[in-house]
Order: sequence, then structure tokens, then C-alpha cells
Amino acid sequence: MTLQELATQHAASLAEAAAAADLAALEKIRVHWLGRNGVIIEAVRQMKNLPPEERPEFGKRMGAWRAEFEAALETQREKLSAAQGVSSAPAFDQTLPGQWRALGSIHPISSVIAEIVRIFHKLGFSVADGPDIETRFNNFTALNTAPHHPSMDEADTFWLDPVKNKLPDDNDRLLRTQTSPIQIRAMLAAGKPPLRIVTPGRCYRRDTTDATHSANFHQVEGLYVDTAPVSLADLKSTLAHFAREMMGPSVAVRFRPHFFPFTEPSVEVDFTCHVCNGAGCRVCKQSGWIEIMGAGMVDPRVYKHVGWPEDTYGYAFGMGVERIAMIKHGITDIRDLYANDLRFLGQFA
Ligand code: PHE
Repeated sequence: MTLQELATQHAASLAEAAAAADLAALEKIRVHWLGRNGVIIEAVRQMKNLPPEERPEFGKRMGAWRAEFEAALETQREKLSAAQGVSSAPAFDQTLPGQWRALGSIHPISSVIAEIVRIFHKLGFSVADGPDIETRFNNFTALNTAPHHPSMDEADTFWLDPVKNKLPDDNDRLLRTQTSPIQIRAMLAAGKPPLRIVTPGRCYRRDTTDATHSANFHQVEGLYVDTAPVSLADLKSTLAHFAREMMGPSVAVRFRPHFFPFTEPSVEVDFTCHVCNGAGCRVCKQSGWIEIMGAGMVDPRVYKHVGWPEDTYGYAFGMGVERIAMIKHGITDIRDLYANDLRFLGQFA
């Protein structure tokens, strides 16, 4: 083969490869040029008959031809494969490990709220909601909080409107300090008894953050009002049922007298300590009891504020979600609930 012939054949082989109509035809073309007795292979074999001075140039061109022809074959193979719907990618290897995707988990605060709601739902309570930004009326006035009550102090409450050096106005806005204002909203919306609601929500207080305090936290409020008499005994049996559902069958409940502006009488509610079961230990400061929530019979003045009839009877209670989550899961620092460390949160999956 002369250099002139080589150039002609080189061009012809590329044209043939590019014109192959299907994969079978392409294979025939490959064998014709590159098979054991193919044109290119034969030409390489014949190189030894060339005059020695021509061999380097010939060898160089042969190398280039072969590389270009192989590339042309590959290009056409891909084109035809794609057209025929045959994948040229490596076959699926079922022995390779699958791709792992991290699964999220429900935040312990959310799961405790869901659990509380589930328990009260079975008792006929439905869920009510309200905004984080409240009015002085809903958060304090309608809840019978006296105008000079220290909880309204700027040091305790996040006010959105300036409240210094001016008379208190029921429209002053604040970040709600408790979920109790949702009671007011729900009563205003319902217009008259009965009403049976639980209201989970985020609350805000100007607390300095430490292991047990956070400037924002969650409460679940409960409200049960009816036209037929409702008593403190109803409240106690409801909360005892809740305690057993939430903490297990051996937990007991006690009421201690307390004061809240919107309930009369008011109580603080303790559960027997989850660690020592009431025997007394470090966690419950040897008392055997853990304080869980505030509660009481709704003060008639609250009904008056929302325009409800005076012969309305009901109880209300409010509990801290973080506190229950910490007790249930043995969490010792409330800040862990807000650090969003996946190593911590993943334990509650
Ligand atoms: N809102 C009260 C608090 O934050 C708790 C409470 C709710 C007490 C309902 C009585 C009735 O302390």
C-alpha cells in the first residue's frame, strides 16, 4: 500500500463507518477493516516490505488511521444504540450498595404535642389555633389580669408597641406569653357554650436562657366549658387520665392551691416523679412529685369579657411542652431542643 492509497482507504473507512445503517452493518464494517484479515491489520503486516526510510511516516499514518477509525466506529455505535433504544451504558450492577438518603425524624416537641392532642382528641377535644402576635386584650385583659400585674412588665413580656409612659391600651400588641389567649379567641368565635378545645402553640417570655428556661417555648392549653355544671372533680379525673396515658399507668396526680388571674379556684398540678415513682429522689428534690401544669375553674369574669352567659361552667389547664418532653425523654437541658443538632434529634426517630 502506498501513502496515496493509504490516504484514500483511510477516508473510505471513515465514510463507511459513518454511513452504517444499523449495529449489525457496523460490525461487518469493523471486521472488514479491523478483523484478523482486515484491511488495516493487513496493511500493518505489509509494512515490513516497505523500504526502511518510508516505514516511520507510514507507521505514523497507520496509527492515526486506526485511532480515527476506532473513534468513528464508537461514535456511530452510540448514535445507532440511542436510536434503537439500546443503552450503551454499563449494565445495571445489582451487587453495588444502594444510595443512602438520610431520613428526617419528628422533633420531640412536635411528637409530644401530637401525643397530647391525641389523648385529648379521644376525650372529645378538638384543636384550636391562634397567632403568635396577640393583643393586650386577648393575652391579659380578657383573662382577668389586673392592669398592674407584674407579668405585663416590659422585663417579662415582648411588647411590639411602645408601652412606656402611656396608658395601657387593649390593642397594644405583644408576643403571646401563654396559649391562654386562644381560649378567648375560641370563645369569641363560638359565641356560646359548649366548647372543648386543646390549643398547642409557641409562647414568648423575656426569660434569660438557661438549662430550664427559654425565651420561647410551647404550651398546650385546654378548655372545657358547658352550660351544665362542670366541677373541679371533672378536671382532676380528666388530668389523671391524661397523666396515665402520657406517662404510664402507675402515675398519680395531685392538686396544690395556686393563683391564676383567669381561674378560681386555681391549682398547680403535679405528677408523681417519673424517676423514683414517688419515693423521693434528686430529680424531684425528695418530694416525690414533679410540677407539670397550671389549671383551675374558669373565672366568671372571663365569660363576662367574651360576652358569654353567667351560668357557664368550665375548667382550663395549661402545660409546658418542653417540660413534658424533657421528663419523658430524660433531657436535662432545654437548649438541646433548640440547637438542631441532628445527632441529638436523630435519637427520637
Ligand atoms: N397560662 C398559664 C401559665 O402560663 C397556665 C394555665 C392555663 C393556668 C390554664 C390555668 C389555666 O402559667
